[in-house]
Amino acid sequence: MSHPDVLSVLFGPEIGPRFLSEHWPLEPCWYLGPASRLADVIGLPCLQSPAALLELPVSRVTVQANTKVLKSLYGKEGLSGAERAELRALYEAGFQLYFHELEALPEPLEHLLEQVAQALGISRGMLSVNAFACIAGSKNPPPLHWDPSESILLQCVGSKRWKLARNDFFPFPTFNHLFGSPVPSEHRDELEAEYPSTPPRVEELVVRPGAAIFVPRGAWHCAIAQEEPSLHLDINIKAPSLSSEMGRWIHRRLRRHRALRQPLTRNMAPAELEETLAVARRTLQEMAEELSVADLVRLGILGLQSWPYSYRRTREARVSLSGERTLKVQLDGESCEVKVPARARSVAKWIIERDAARPFGVGELPPSESEQEILPLLDLLEDLGVLQRLKAKASPRRRASR
Ligand SMILES: [Fe+2]
Repeated sequence: MSHPDVLSVLFGPEIGPRFLSEHWPLEPCWYLGPASRLADVIGLPCLQSPAALLELPVSRVTVQANTKVLKSLYGKEGLSGAERAELRALYEAGFQLYFHELEALPEPLEHLLEQVAQALGISRGMLSVNAFACIAGSKNPPPLHWDPSESILLQCVGSKRWKLARNDFFPFPTFNHLFGSPVPSEHRDELEAEYPSTPPRVEELVVRPGAAIFVPRGAWHCAIAQEEPSLHLDINIKAPSLSSEMGRWIHRRLRRHRALRQPLTRNMAPAELEETLAVARRTLQEMAEELSVADLVRLGILGLQSWPYSYRRTREARVSLSGERTLKVQLDGESCEVKVPARARSVAKWIIERDAARPFGVGELPPSESEQEILPLLDLLEDLGVLQRLKAKASPRRRASR
């Protein structure tokens, strides 16, 4: 399946083509379609039982009773025999096992993630896979809550009942929250409306193998075990936002100034404090003026995929460098100027001077530039319609950073 098709495979022929315009990023949806369409993923032997899952390297396995974490074990190098036995006993006793970030994903699952990332227009590195396993009638699942990330849930084994509702009073929260619990004070000024006094009206659905559910960031949800064991995957999507990414960017820039790294004490003279503040003001002002689409791309909006991509020209465009840091793009008689990230200037030059008809891979680009510097520029040109991204090459591929 190619990446535009993946949404139709997951959410069916009705919702799939409308997913990006009508559901992403706020409107929950689901498709209780045939298991056969996802058989290569949900039928993977390692996803058929908690015992098989416990053999996989996994960032962490936790056991929760409602909101309390009873057990948390780290398994990046694999869990020990004793740890696996302990978790199996807790599973048999009725507790749900929560596998955080499965490692070394089997090829069909890795392929699915790549396709989903491309369809959503974000980096593969922002997707991870969690798994949940519980016995029939398992108790103590987390009650109605929201998470600060998007999820695509895939039922692999057995069944589960889900409660799901849009979050209309507070879109895109940046923290986890259980219905009715106090909102932490540091997040209170993010609420856009009064906290609901009654639980939201939820949709209820019973899912079986093959079901796919989209749980948007902030959507209310909880799962209830049925009369048979259940194992489901959670493709967790931490799509970056400007607020989440910009903090790091500002911090990096401020850190460049010795005056802004020095300790602040109340013994500092007023003149010294003034001087420090002036450096901070100047830096923030410079940053505000420089902020461009390319910076947003660099901050992660389109992601910094770390495997080679090819691009080709799609439109008659004249691209020239005008000035030190500006790229002039003329498309269909209209022209616009975009700022080239400073360290990508040699790449911009290379793109302009090369044979326009020949597709090229990132691997061919000038070796002095890192992918992190090249890709924002390519993404920017893709955004402008100058270049079109071709299918990702199968190899060599490096693991995306998390
Ligand atoms: Fe959740």
